Amino acid sequence: MAGYGAAAGPGTPAGNPASPPRPAGHVAGHLADRFVELAGRQPAGIWGAPGRVNLIGEYTDLNEGHVLPLAIPQRTRAVAAARADRRLSVRSLQQSGGAEAEVEADLDDRDRALVGWAAYPFAVAHVLEDAGLPIGGADLLLDSDVPVGAGLSSSAALECAVGLALCELAGVELAAMELARLAQRAENDYVGVPCGIMDQAASMCCTTGNALLLDTRRLELRQVPFPLGRAGLSLLVVDTRVRHSLASSAYADRRRACEQAAELLGVKALRDVPFEDCDEALERLEAAAGEQLMRRARHVLSEQRRVLEVVARLEEGDLAAVGALLVEGHRSLRDDFEVSSPELDTVVDAAVAAGALGARMTGAGFGGSAIVLAETAAIDGVRAAVLDAFSQRGYRPPASFTVAASAGACREA
Ligand code: GLA
Repeated sequence: MAGYGAAAGPGTPAGNPASPPRPAGHVAGHLADRFVELAGRQPAGIWGAPGRVNLIGEYTDLNEGHVLPLAIPQRTRAVAAARADRRLSVRSLQQSGGAEAEVEADLDDRDRALVGWAAYPFAVAHVLEDAGLPIGGADLLLDSDVPVGAGLSSSAALECAVGLALCELAGVELAAMELARLAQRAENDYVGVPCGIMDQAASMCCTTGNALLLDTRRLELRQVPFPLGRAGLSLLVVDTRVRHSLASSAYADRRRACEQAAELLGVKALRDVPFEDCDEALERLEAAAGEQLMRRARHVLSEQRRVLEVVARLEEGDLAAVGALLVEGHRSLRDDFEVSSPELDTVVDAAVAAGALGARMTGAGFGGSAIVLAETAAIDGVRAAVLDAFSQRGYRPPASFTVAASAGACREA
């Protein structure tokens, strides 16, 4: 870790978990007005970047494998104008856990410890500068309706919106994937979260109506049509509203386990184990390092296969066949990788029992959100069944909303 010393908490500008995404035109006018009120001048533009759900391919990006996320309609927006000095002033229209809603610091003052949501915009500015880009001072106003801590990549949305804004203010043109890599580096090196590239790549590169098949080693991508509406299906996000404080240490622990398994198998990453050699590789792992490490690797190897199977089903236009693979993926995350939670398991079990085609936790797990694929006509029943199951177990009611595959990051005004 360089820079801030203290790790930033999970806080990013907080959105309302249950709120539907706001219409872009209305948001732009309102945000521009707020910017003028706060900064006393017109903004140069408004840049937006979405959160994501991952359809399948969990923890495969830590193993240089494939992932299949899609952008959700909820976005983080950065309204911005360049400054003549080297100061970055960041205001958020949301306050997270009582954190400061306004932070201003000099870009050269890298030793200043920034915690919470404010660490992210500064981290992005610093990696852009580290990459030799001529970033200058700026006034930024942030607004987000991506739920925070829900496993929907509110941090990646924030990083990408700020990164786009700072680059364009400085006249720098970066390819979308290049900015995604820098945003990931901001989170790895400055915020101190050892995440893979999935979330930032999804926020930058997803397109409306498609899931994004990304090879996280080669950084090659393919847009895979995900025409939910035409298939009479809906994708429901259920935010359990459970946030686990141990999530980041457990995430780092899973990353280490994957690296250890690859090393024991003599491959650069678990992605390099051919499908036909999986059984033998897992036997060797179990003999060398025990049952738990074998299970961790078994999740990754089976998940990598599931991503490609889901893509094959989608390309055949058989969306309904995807459901069973989602459930299989969830069981693997629950039993082999052990990153689910009782609440996430409850969503999946209740949704499937109520007739959903499939369901699984999405993102890093340990709380956060699950996705449910169901016929649109069945969605209300599924939602009611999940609520009922939560109430029976004495859990706080979850928030839920349907999502369509939405647009990636762009300049909005
Ligand atoms: C988080 C990380 C991603 C990925 C997922 C798990 O969202 O940011 O890089 O590892 O967890 O699939």
